[in-house]
Amino acid sequence: MASLWEGIGHIEARCAMIRLVARRWVIIIALSSLWVACVGDSAPSSLPAEVKPYRSVADVQETMLWILEPATDVIWDSAGAVITAEGEKDLSPTTDAGWENVRSHAAVVAESGNLLMLPGRSRGPAWDAYAQALIIAGEVAMAAADAKDADALFDAGGQLYGVCRACHTQFHITPKQPWEEARP
Ligand code: HEC
Repeated sequence: MASLWEGIGHIEARCAMIRLVARRWVIIIALSSLWVACVGDSAPSSLPAEVKPYRSVADVQETMLWILEPATDVIWDSAGAVITAEGEKDLSPTTDAGWENVRSHAAVVAESGNLLMLPGRSRGPAWDAYAQALIIAGEVAMAAADAKDADALFDAGGQLYGVCRACHTQFHITPKQPWEEARP
């Protein structure tokens, strides 16, 4: 008999130990999942959808006037030729720095396409299609500048002009500047 009670006592002691160990595991698992939840919370991917990390500074008109048009002008002013009193003058860059300047501004043109697609600026799928065409035309101009290819840059300028024109036509915009008539 005594040995049976001893045996039962022994089993109870073991069960108590297992319960203790189990409880400790529950606490560890609970704490670690809390930690994961906390770390996860600080990761940008779990930001609530309404919290935007970017903040637009210019409206569409200002984006045109201050970012896109000045950059496009550098491309247009570096392609083709003009007739002056001294005769025809080739506008193509003549130095590495000149070509790099064109490439930098072509990159601004390309990235402007992304700026135009940001919420608050985008006016829907047709708008976004023109913005994407702007990215492509900007990239074509970048490649032309990288290759120092004057003819390719002239073509890129024309492609770019077509994109500006198409979006302005669709959205019934008549820029007040004379650039529409004066350009290629
Ligand atoms: C995705 C459409 C879109 C594309 C592409 C686009 N524009 Fe515009 N542009 C607009 C809109 C919309 C306005 C009118 C903005 C306003 O007045 O609110 C505008 C206005 C302008 C203005 C007039 C700003 C003023 O009020 O004086 C100029 C200049 C201009 N764009 C230049 C360009 C040039 C250069 C390109 C091409 C390199 C271009 N835009 C491409 C949509 C576009």
